[in-house]
Amino acid sequence: MIKKIFLFLFSFIFIFNLENKADEGMWIPMLLKKYNIEDMKKKGFKLTAEDIYSVNQTCMKDAVMIFGGGCTGELISAEGLLITNHHCGYGQIQKHSSLKNDYLTDGFWAMSREEELANPNLTVTFLVRMEDFTERILKDIDDNLNEKERQEKIAYNIAFAEAEATEGTNYKAKVKSFFYGNEYYLFVSEVYKDVRLVGAPPSAIGKFGGDTDNWMWPRHTGDFSIFRIYADKYNKPAEYSAENVPYKPKKHFPISLKGVEKGDFTMVFGYPGTTEEYLTSFAIESKINTLNPSKINIRQKKIDIMLKAMDKDRKVRIQYSSKHAGTSNAWKKWIGEKRGLERLNAIEKKKKLEKEFSLWAKKQNIKIYSELLPRYEKIYEELTPYSLASDYFYEAGYSLDIIRFVTKFKSFKSVNKNTQEIEIKTKIFKLNSSIKSFFKDYNKETDKKIFTEILKIYYNNTKKNFRPEIFNMVDKKFKGDINKYADYFYKKSIFVDQNKLRKFLDKFKASKLKKLKKDPAYQMTESLIDFYVEKIAGKLSELELEVLKLNRFYLDGLRKMQKDKVFYPDANFTLRIAYGQVDDYFPYDGIRYKHFTTLKGIMEKDNPEIYDYDVPDKLKELYKNKNYGKYADKNGNMRVCFTASNHTTGGNSGSPVINGNGELIGVNFDRNWEGTMSDIMYDPDQCRNITLDIRYALFIIDKFAGASHLIKEMTLVE
Ligand code: ARG
Ligand code: GLU
Repeated sequence: MIKKIFLFLFSFIFIFNLENKADEGMWIPMLLKKYNIEDMKKKGFKLTAEDIYSVNQTCMKDAVMIFGGGCTGELISAEGLLITNHHCGYGQIQKHSSLKNDYLTDGFWAMSREEELANPNLTVTFLVRMEDFTERILKDIDDNLNEKERQEKIAYNIAFAEAEATEGTNYKAKVKSFFYGNEYYLFVSEVYKDVRLVGAPPSAIGKFGGDTDNWMWPRHTGDFSIFRIYADKYNKPAEYSAENVPYKPKKHFPISLKGVEKGDFTMVFGYPGTTEEYLTSFAIESKINTLNPSKINIRQKKIDIMLKAMDKDRKVRIQYSSKHAGTSNAWKKWIGEKRGLERLNAIEKKKKLEKEFSLWAKKQNIKIYSELLPRYEKIYEELTPYSLASDYFYEAGYSLDIIRFVTKFKSFKSVNKNTQEIEIKTKIFKLNSSIKSFFKDYNKETDKKIFTEILKIYYNNTKKNFRPEIFNMVDKKFKGDINKYADYFYKKSIFVDQNKLRKFLDKFKASKLKKLKKDPAYQMTESLIDFYVEKIAGKLSELELEVLKLNRFYLDGLRKMQKDKVFYPDANFTLRIAYGQVDDYFPYDGIRYKHFTTLKGIMEKDNPEIYDYDVPDKLKELYKNKNYGKYADKNGNMRVCFTASNHTTGGNSGSPVINGNGELIGVNFDRNWEGTMSDIMYDPDQCRNITLDIRYALFIIDKFAGASHLIKEMTLVE
């Protein structure tokens, strides 16, 4: 009897747990029918799995794309108009900006097709189809191969499969690993290369709240920008040409003006980049207690210096705005993630699971499973110092602007006295655009300051054998004084000054090679790279390969142990569905955060003294007159953002947020700070994605920018 009650209770807890956890997961579109559609329908989705993903009919996937290299975008008109985040179009907006045409500050709106701005190198990528390729990729893989041989063989199989999948087409194919190499899927895609900037609100709207509010709720950022895809006259991808015409998509999203309320179904369809939900306690410990704190510390310093310089000088603000946003974004996320994992007791929870696994493994009597955890423990002890050295190399060395710039000159390495003059001239010619774009956003004083302070951190926090040779020279020649070394560096190097560099290159001959090789910036760059290649890379990849192998077995074992659980694969920048509902949350005892914000909140934050909160006059006027047109909610308020329980991550920026009828209700752009640990462990109580209410974007386009011709292109559902 007792046993029965216990069983009953247990099953209740189990079911309850499942229900509660159901918003977690980034699901494979092709498998929705098998695993998710029933649950989605229960939660309010009214269409079919084929309406989302199908190879036989037009479906939502035809309107979703990878925007650029790391964001998502979606089509919103029959003439190739797409919407993504302001922070996703930021690089393009920034590139078109100068003191004279400051689109970052003032916004940009093409009032006709002719005014739309071309963006060399910007592409959008549509998924044509996906397929389970596990069997093909693993067909001749023998379990007795060592890990290196195994990976080589798999790489060969992948290359072969990819080539075969696109033979005779202009498509691209990629096979990606899922569940740490337990499964493989093929993705065939089509890349459009003429994508033009159509509209962007001023940063005071599109980046309202800036990095102060980044990763935070309540949020009031109008984080969107508008582009248009162009195609050749056959509607096929083509390089930029004045002859190209707007792309005519198979499908674009209808836009709902009805808005959302708490409990409403939402789904996010896009390209989440990376998650690590199945990490072991050892990996989390290494990351949270050793690696991330060092990276946070380095970036903190960079950010402080940039902010000071940006506040002092408008030109520096334009030059460093994109760099600053990039540096601060991950920095702030890591801080939130650490807190979230601590609050969740993530390490304890993982240890508990690992204990269970060990007991199960013992029972299975399969050697590799029972050996896994001790092997993990040992390998992380060995790996962590190398990962740390690699992080320092990257964060405090290689990623310094001046160093990255010098790496572009690596082709000079092969120059010798026999090199033809024409060959040298070609090399220099090829560097022209890099030189131009580097110096456009270069401020010597700021660059030097960052260089100096970051190198100090590098020097003071690493042991001799875990840092580049060049520091020994600094020891010898400058008695370890980084300030003096930096003075010498910025006085002597030809790379820190555009005129000096141009002059040098104009007269460059093979005989001048010596001067180049003695340049302090060139030497520093070489030393960094040599260090990484000779002392870090080999060992690091050897250890990481071993971890990969353990992960593969561990996940395989976990899936066998938890037979009834449906596992979702970690994000790997392939198309996924996350679904859940509009929801508020309780971040701390006694505080409830409502699930939406309104324009009123923007007025409350308004403060012309603070750059991030300086509200444009025009917006204040629209607010005063309540001039919201059909974009207001039923109480006459202008909603700005809302939160929901969709499991998202970086890469989901710009993703369509869709209601139960398949209509666009918003554009995903962020998560809440309390929930950023969802990349490692999802907590249904705390994890929320942040969406721009589509009605606010329409209001800004229509009423603020007066670009109503764009609204006319869209399909609005009232
Ligand atoms: N946190 C968001 C994401 O991960 C937005 C980043 C851009 N915004 C910013 N203020 N840096 O990408
Ligand atoms: N802002 C992120 C991006 O650029 C999305 C936010 C997240 O990480 O969830 O993709």
